[in-house]
Amino acid sequence: MVKSEQLYEGKAKKIYSVSSSDDLVWVEFKNSLTAFNGEKKAEMINKGRFNCHITSILFKWLEKKGINSHFHERVSDIEMVCQKVKIIPLEVVVRNILAGSTAKKFRIEEGSPLEQPLVEFYYKDDSLGDPFISDEQAIMLKAVNNVEQLSVLKQKALEVNIILKKIFEDIGIDLIDFKLEFGLDSKGEILLADEITPDTCRLWDKKTGERMDKDRFRRDMGQVMEFYEDVFQRLKTFEEKNK
Ligand code: TMP
Ligand code: ASP
Repeated sequence: MVKSEQLYEGKAKKIYSVSSSDDLVWVEFKNSLTAFNGEKKAEMINKGRFNCHITSILFKWLEKKGINSHFHERVSDIEMVCQKVKIIPLEVVVRNILAGSTAKKFRIEEGSPLEQPLVEFYYKDDSLGDPFISDEQAIMLKAVNNVEQLSVLKQKALEVNIILKKIFEDIGIDLIDFKLEFGLDSKGEILLADEITPDTCRLWDKKTGERMDKDRFRRDMGQVMEFYEDVFQRLKTFEEKNK
């Protein structure tokens, strides 16, 4: 397998084609960190490495638990090879504890537990600032083909939540909320895609309550990479113990 020409550059990753296959893409994690729709930017040494390892461990674990994703294999410290998919333009957010934008919107204190996980859709469009979108609006904008696809996304997101909550629980971390993206493969099958990292999750240390995710950067809390590294080390230990 050989990395070929660059197809796309996003805020956190670059996507390349793979010379031997039309079905695969080569994903490279960057060291850049952005927030608020790219308004706030920084470069952080090792960020790409931590996120590549974290997402690879999580996709592999999810696969073991029956959740198919685009992930094939990690090919270096900052690169993975994935199934090529057409990304569905919805960010699927699952919340276990209220924090971030939904806490702010309804003026509910951050950290308030939810009786059941909340699934929300946001429309993936940077120029619109990724707005919250209703099921009917998602269909109006043809983000999905039909209401059945929306329920598949919700169902899959809730299944992923159960598995992720458990793995983070095992390493002493509360999974507050996270964002998933899904894509369609060449057969039209819905696959979990993109990444699952401290950029896309809220992770609070069970003992100390410390934030171990991108909120440290968004809110100028400092020690951003120290906490990403801690998440990576704990997941690596988990993976080694559960081979
Ligand atoms: P929010 O509370 O800002 O809506 O974020 C909910 C979760 O989604 C949180 O874990 C961070 C993640 N997220 C992304 O991965 N990308 C984004 O663009 C945003 C706004 C949130
Ligand atoms: N993902 C968005 C950005 O990088 C927003 C965020 O995560 O705060 O700009």
